[in-house]
Amino acid sequence: MKPCIALTKGRIEKQFLEFFQSLSYDVEPLINKGRKLRVETDQFSFVFAKGVDVTTYVEYGIADLGIVGEDILIEHQPDVFNLFPLPFGHCRMALATEVGKEWPERKRRIASTFTNITKEYFRQKGESVDIVKLEGSVELAPILGLADGIVDIVETGTTLKENGLVIKDEFLEFSARCIANRSSLKIKRDVLTPVIESFQKGVAVK
Ligand code: PRP
Repeated sequence: MKPCIALTKGRIEKQFLEFFQSLSYDVEPLINKGRKLRVETDQFSFVFAKGVDVTTYVEYGIADLGIVGEDILIEHQPDVFNLFPLPFGHCRMALATEVGKEWPERKRRIASTFTNITKEYFRQKGESVDIVKLEGSVELAPILGLADGIVDIVETGTTLKENGLVIKDEFLEFSARCIANRSSLKIKRDVLTPVIESFQKGVAVK
C-alpha cells in the first residue's frame, strides 16, 4: 500500500510542495487538486488538514507521515515520532501589543490559539494573566479591546504591522517538522525508509 502523508493546508503546504518537487517527486496532482482533501500521486496518498488534525491523523495511524509546524507539536504534545526539522515554515512565537498602548501592570488578558505555550511562558516569568482562547485572526483581539496582548506565531511580521501591533517579546523559534506514526515506522519500514531518507537528503542540501 502507498504511504499516506498528512499535509498541513496553507503556507506549509505551498512550501512543502516546492521542497517535494525539488526532490523530483510528482507534484502535478497536488498542485491541481482544486478543493479535494485527498489526492493520490504515483507513489503516495496525501490528505490535507489543519495542523492539529495532521497530528491526530498521524497519531491514529491513518497517515504514516505528517508535515506540521513545530508550534503545533509543542502546544498539543501528540504521541507521534517527531522525526526531523524541514527547511521551511520558519517562524517564531511572540507576545505582541497595540502600538502606543500602555501595557497594564496587573490584570492582563492575553488572547492566543496557543494557550498551553502562553500559560508556560507567563508561568516562567512568574506573571499571572487571564488567557482567552481564539481559533484564528488573533490580532483582532487587542484592536477590539478583548485582550491587552496576543501570543501568536510571526513569520514575516506583516499581519502584526498591518493591524497596528508590535512585538513586545519573542521566545520560541520553529520550523516545519516531519512526524511519523509510531507503528508505521516498524510495520511499513520498507516503504517509509526511502521516503524519509530522500527528505533528509533534501534537508541536508538546503
Ligand atoms: C498565522 C498567525 C498570524 C500570521 C503571521 O496566521 O496566526 O496571524 O500567520 O504571519 P506573518 O507574520 O507572515 O504575517 P494564519 O495565516 O496561519 O491564519 P490564522 O490567523 O487563521 O491563524
